[in-house]
Amino acid sequence: MDWGLKNRLSKIIQPDTGRAVMLAFDHGYFLGPTHRLEEPEKTITPLIPYADTIMLTRGVLRTSVDPNADTNVVLRVSGGTSIVGPHLENEGITTSFEEALRLNVAGVGISVFIGSEHERQTLLNLSELVNQGERYGMPVLGITAVGKELEKRDARYLSLCCRICAELGTHIVKTYYCDEFEKVTSSCPVPIVIAGGPKLETEMDVFNMTHSAIQQGAIGVDMGRNIWQNDNPVAVIRAIRAIVHENESAEQAFKLFEAVKNGEV
Ligand code: R5P
Repeated sequence: MDWGLKNRLSKIIQPDTGRAVMLAFDHGYFLGPTHRLEEPEKTITPLIPYADTIMLTRGVLRTSVDPNADTNVVLRVSGGTSIVGPHLENEGITTSFEEALRLNVAGVGISVFIGSEHERQTLLNLSELVNQGERYGMPVLGITAVGKELEKRDARYLSLCCRICAELGTHIVKTYYCDEFEKVTSSCPVPIVIAGGPKLETEMDVFNMTHSAIQQGAIGVDMGRNIWQNDNPVAVIRAIRAIVHENESAEQAFKLFEAVKNGEV
């Protein structure tokens, strides 16, 4: 791996822990003004200090993130479809490499829709990004999207998706947590981070999922709604950081969550 690629990767996966806390708020690229992300700058600014990287589109980066902010960016570069259109999975590459370099990002992210009518196109899009990523020293995050079919999130399907992303050369894979998650991580030769998915009922559900994912081989999270749709988002992200970077249990994380929420720390 070339120096530039390694250096960028070290901004995503922290060299001291080998783990990653990524804050995802790219949802608007197909969902529009998602609940609690109607005004991205207001929602996200307080969370930035607790994320190793933020994951978003170039539009929200330019309009809603201070260029002086001390953060690293993973840029969503796929899209072209919407939740109300006929084929969510019919994505193309939306943002050039020149633009990613101009925006000084640490990595680029793209969804693949395996098993869909547009599987081949999205996998070739990923491969094209990897070709360019190798040329310019830019890590590529492959995202195993399921579109509207959330029930697809089982170990058999996600193992298939993660392994295909790795085989095509992606440097990190983002997928969902599922039962028997160890099967997914053990058969994928590149690091895996988990998305949070739709908002869970309780904070403990989020901390248990994060802790179990780490225990079963994930290197971190690329999480959105379960952080910024919570009434106490800073408390949630700080608790998640403690699980990911400090190996804390879900119970310890909950105590930290309560302490931050109550203004004690
Ligand atoms: C899909 O919209 C994006 O890839 C999100 O970044 C991803 O789903 C993570 O966000 P959440 O934790 O809200 O699922």
